[in-house]
Amino acid sequence: MATSSYGLQEFAHDMEDILRSQPDQAKIFDRGSSYLERLIANPGALPDEYRAPSGTGPRSNHGSYLLYRGDSGLLVTAVVWGPGDHAAPHDHHTWGMIGVMDNSLSETRFRRMDDREDPLHATLERDREATLVPGEISLLIPTVDEIHQMDNHTDRPTVEIHVYGQDLKGLDRCRYNLETGEVTPFVTRKWDNE
Ligand SMILES: [Fe+2]
Repeated sequence: MATSSYGLQEFAHDMEDILRSQPDQAKIFDRGSSYLERLIANPGALPDEYRAPSGTGPRSNHGSYLLYRGDSGLLVTAVVWGPGDHAAPHDHHTWGMIGVMDNSLSETRFRRMDDREDPLHATLERDREATLVPGEISLLIPTVDEIHQMDNHTDRPTVEIHVYGQDLKGLDRCRYNLETGEVTPFVTRKWDNE
């Protein structure tokens, strides 16, 4: 992978430019993912303090750090998955792009098969599983393809950059229990660095 000096500020600026052009989803992903590829190819783009799990609180083996929040709604975070870290299937309710900077992460995607009439029950079907490696980008498409489970099966931290169309803090989202079908609403309350 070629290295780059493309940094967070330039990335946020370029993303805001796209968003100002009233883009459709395809344009956001097409141009946005090319910018994100450049960003994650630059090891210097993310300070060391955002490359380790938080070490405190209920998810001490996890870290989520706010990097940029724009008036447009654009949100950029760094997410760190410690060894063995796991996120149960959940949705996002906004578009997203996830790029891996360090190490790898297993992502399992699910399709929702029920009619969505019952807000507290869902039937999910396993769609696909991938091991994301540095330089790769995974896209989240609201309602269509956005339910995933994440696992770090390795023995060292995985570092990612996440980009969303809305601030996840305060956004109503759902977790899914694969065995019981139960849907549990949840809200991200804070980032580890604010
Ligand atoms: Fe997620």
